[in-house]
Amino acid sequence: MSLNPKIKDWSGLKVWVVGASSGIGRALAESLTRRGARVIVSARRAQTLAEIAPPPEIVLACDIQDDASIAAVIAQMRSRDMLPDVVFWVAGVYHPMACDALELDGVRETFQINTLAAYSGLQQMLQAWASAPQAARHWSWVSSVAGYRGLPQAAAYGASKAALTYLAEVSHLELKPRGIAVSVIQPGFVETRLTAKNNFQMPAILTPEQAAKASLDGLAKGDFEIHYPKRFTLWLKCLRLLPYSLYFRLMKKALPDRS
Ligand SMILES: NC(=O)c1ccc[n+]([C@@H]2O[C@H](COP(=O)([O-])OP(=O)(O)OC[C@H]3O[C@@H](n4cnc5c(N)ncnc54)[C@H](OP(=O)(O)O)[C@@H]3O)[C@@H](O)[C@H]2O)c1
Repeated sequence: MSLNPKIKDWSGLKVWVVGASSGIGRALAESLTRRGARVIVSARRAQTLAEIAPPPEIVLACDIQDDASIAAVIAQMRSRDMLPDVVFWVAGVYHPMACDALELDGVRETFQINTLAAYSGLQQMLQAWASAPQAARHWSWVSSVAGYRGLPQAAAYGASKAALTYLAEVSHLELKPRGIAVSVIQPGFVETRLTAKNNFQMPAILTPEQAAKASLDGLAKGDFEIHYPKRFTLWLKCLRLLPYSLYFRLMKKALPDRS
């Protein structure tokens, strides 16, 4: 039984992709435009948004750290009769860091963009949607498998994504009765500027285009949680089931030897 209405036909749907200037968000925007959706793209880098091909219907630069910037974009969409049917909240940043080498500016930015801005975006869009009622809407969060359990170097990023996934679960529960479907996309490794920071082997890494396809396939099935690639994420789900004693013993092998 699917947890959300299935989205198989994107033609004519108004879709807002937040964090579309590169990586997964950009690939999603391009794929959605090719599938006939009326796509609105946002991110901070307006010039990069303007280079998306095929071009989306509307480009609206936005810094989601700024509530007023989100409000201005929503006002623009409303004035053009383009309030979205579907939102992909993709924007995120990654600052790898260990607990004994915390960089507090990086921690703050991570939580500001990956987590706190999500609350602002959701609050503001729900208010806009309430003023223009419609039968079916969908909000899709892009979180990460890094939020499943404590991982080395993910002190800030993993925690911010665990919180986002929690918000995704709560919003699914609470918004469904209001006709708003909610899904959460949990990618494994995807080759983007974000993972270019990693200096370790990334198993089963996907291209942004593969990630976009897997995301849209999940929405077509009506899944709540869309995780990929399964050959990697299913292992992580098994790790999540382990007792701490076993989990920590296994993860110790992933930590650099500091003895
Ligand atoms: N790559 C992976 O392996 C992986 C795995 C799991 C989850 N994810 C998640 O997937 C999402 C996309 O990441 P990606 O890998 O595609 O990296 P990316 O290429 O760096 O994309 C991140 C996007 O977020 C936007 N963004 C960042 N801060 C923003 C802000 N303050 N306001 C508006 N937009 C902002 C960026 O645009 P501007 O810089 O132009 O603003 C960019 O479009 C992130 O949430 C990430 O955590 C990625």
